[in-house]
Amino acid sequence: LIYNILNLLQMLDLIIKNAKVCTSSDVFVCDIGVQNKEIVLLEKNINQKSKEILDADGKYVLPGGIDGHCHLDQPMKDGSVIADNFESGTKSAAFGGTTTVIPFAVQYKGDNLRKVIQDYHKKAEGQCYIDYAFHTIISDVSNKILHQELPAIIKDGYSHFKIYMTYDDLKLNDREILDVLSIAGKEKAVVMVHAENHECIMWLTEKLESEGKISPKYHAVSRPDIIEAEATNRAISLSRLTKTPVLFVHISSKEAIEAIRNAQTKGFKILAETCPQYLFLTKDKLDQKDFEGAKYVCSPPPRTKEDQIEVWKGIQNGTFDVFSSDHCPFFYEGKKGKDVKGKNASFSKIPNGCPGLETRLPLLFSDGVMNKKISINKFVEITSAKPAKIYGLYPRKGTIAIGSDADLVIWETGINKTIKNKDLHHNVDYTPYENIKVSAWPKTVICRGNIIVNDGKLNISKGFGEFQKSGISEYVY
Ligand code: URP
Ligand code: ZN
Ligand code: ZN
Repeated sequence: LIYNILNLLQMLDLIIKNAKVCTSSDVFVCDIGVQNKEIVLLEKNINQKSKEILDADGKYVLPGGIDGHCHLDQPMKDGSVIADNFESGTKSAAFGGTTTVIPFAVQYKGDNLRKVIQDYHKKAEGQCYIDYAFHTIISDVSNKILHQELPAIIKDGYSHFKIYMTYDDLKLNDREILDVLSIAGKEKAVVMVHAENHECIMWLTEKLESEGKISPKYHAVSRPDIIEAEATNRAISLSRLTKTPVLFVHISSKEAIEAIRNAQTKGFKILAETCPQYLFLTKDKLDQKDFEGAKYVCSPPPRTKEDQIEVWKGIQNGTFDVFSSDHCPFFYEGKKGKDVKGKNASFSKIPNGCPGLETRLPLLFSDGVMNKKISINKFVEITSAKPAKIYGLYPRKGTIAIGSDADLVIWETGINKTIKNKDLHHNVDYTPYENIKVSAWPKTVICRGNIIVNDGKLNISKGFGEFQKSGISEYVY
């Protein structure tokens, strides 16, 4: 009781009045009281004194977005340079309503995992505008890595990592995947899988190139839906064999979605992610004059209208657990980006990836929630709550509850805004979503009780963002 009275007498740091609070399960109207970076009160008409008061004026207030898939300052092997570092990437994310990002610390073959993580910490420290955790990418599966380094880092707060079934520098074969999965199962780590059949891609690429078919549109031809579905089915089998859950990242097409849905229906622990490029882009974007199509080269590639419909269904029916950006930005111009090997080089030499940190949430809110394709609870679930649960950050992140970090976004809805690259804050010379109209955008973004963006203005300095250790996932048991 005394504790409660003392608490009541204490000055709050921030009150958000008249909030239409949305979590992944509820919508309710109340005030939000924040003290010491955390939410301490959720009630009507908070009367306590506060250093700062914001009136949400009945607007939706959602948990800050968590982008569980982005590439920042990641070293490339082909001479290209990822356009965003931690400073520009996290700034851009903040303006789009994201308060935590989870980029990848990539291990190339021969790299010591601990060193890889230390290097990423050095890149991120003092640079971030929002909070961050790390996934690792495991490409070297030597005994030492699997039996010593990997278990150690999982315990230390890096409990999720990605493996690749394609890309020469990164890919693992089935035997190696089985070894990784059995360790991950034992250590309770989340294994994210990039599912595309490497041999099929190589075979198709060589065939296309030998026929002189090298323009950007052939990127999509070299990576058809069949090869995504094959790898997805295969990885499901490997997951079943080792009784270890997997999370399929950036799923793009009908057949792969069906494979995942079937496996989930049978009770296998299969999780899945999709991304804006599979809802808002189609493969004909790659078929443009000159090199323009390179802007849309990502893997898997954007698909067809029919696939887009299936991706929406997969979000609606719960096949997809998370919606991430897969922000992997390269300059269109400049010799270090999409044209690193020249604008006349084959599609197979174009760095893979598109920017999307800032536009992820407004696109989904506008076309999903505002156009009534998904509920606002589903929006919170796949953009914040479930990424937090899957990546061991919940309930510190991902919800609006007493004791959670005050990561909050006040949304402006019913607006008429056109996405223009010149208005975005990433360090890229284009957005694949140029000229798409949106009807919602974050008005105020709050991270750990601090207003970081308000009405299009940045309110904090770089270095505000803090590293967040990941606990063990709620989805690995
Ligand atoms: O094309 C893409 N998605 N590039 C990023 C790397 C990856 O596989 O996620
Ligand atoms: Zn990938
Ligand atoms: Zn990616």
